[in-house]
Amino acid sequence: MKGRLVILTGAGISAESGIPTFRDPGGLWEKYDLSEVATPEGFRRNPRLVHEFYNARRRDLLRVKPNPAHYALADLERAWSGEFLLVTQNVDDLHERAGSRRVIHIHGELLKIRCEHCGGVFRETGEVFPETPCPGCGRPGGLRPHVVWFGEEPFHLPEVYEALSRCHLFVAIGTSGTVFPAAGFVEVARAAGARCVEINLKPAENAPLFHEHRYGPASQVVPAWVKEILKEG
Ligand code: OAD
Repeated sequence: MKGRLVILTGAGISAESGIPTFRDPGGLWEKYDLSEVATPEGFRRNPRLVHEFYNARRRDLLRVKPNPAHYALADLERAWSGEFLLVTQNVDDLHERAGSRRVIHIHGELLKIRCEHCGGVFRETGEVFPETPCPGCGRPGGLRPHVVWFGEEPFHLPEVYEALSRCHLFVAIGTSGTVFPAAGFVEVARAAGARCVEINLKPAENAPLFHEHRYGPASQVVPAWVKEILKEG
């Protein structure tokens, strides 16, 4: 397996591990007001509410495990002899726990916090409150989740665009194709001449931009697709 492969994952790949998606029925944005818990303005208005939201997400994450889709992508990375990049919009660590190595979290990571006073980024598996002192500089009042909120610039975009603009195969898995810039990655890959594959429960908003579609639960469809790719050799 040669060539340059870029995989983009979204909430759908972690759904069967027990992490709710955002926009499906019963999803997070039905239960919570996005403008309150996922914007810098919401955090300024009510930091305690936002910390409580992410404390709960962190607790939930520590209770779940990777599913066969995460493991299949880790197997694929190990077998791939060309360039391989996994770009995820997910803030969970299930790809890493399944064994994936080259992972870019463009929307940040739930198990990290950042201090707005000193700029330090720290691993965090417990609870954080507005008065919690920074583990680096010791000052209270500066800690925030190390996640990207609406209105903020996603992380590592230059590296992602560089990989997309040179890739031969682009695969988007379990993402609704509604949140930019990730929803536009397929166009960059297409312009580079890449074959574009969508793996999803149902067609995403940007489905017509893909050359090939595989619909069904990620825990079944992703391992089956990986098996095919590995057989093609
Ligand atoms: P969404 O909740 O928008 O979409 C989830 C996608 O996963 C949909 O296309 C579903 O059809 C699909 N899906 C659900 N269950 C699945 C399963 N078992 N197998 C395969 N696919 C399944 O989630 P994202 O597209 O990841 O950003 O959302 C993008 C961003 O919007 C998130 O990173 C987050 C959110 O607001 C921020 O918080 C900045």
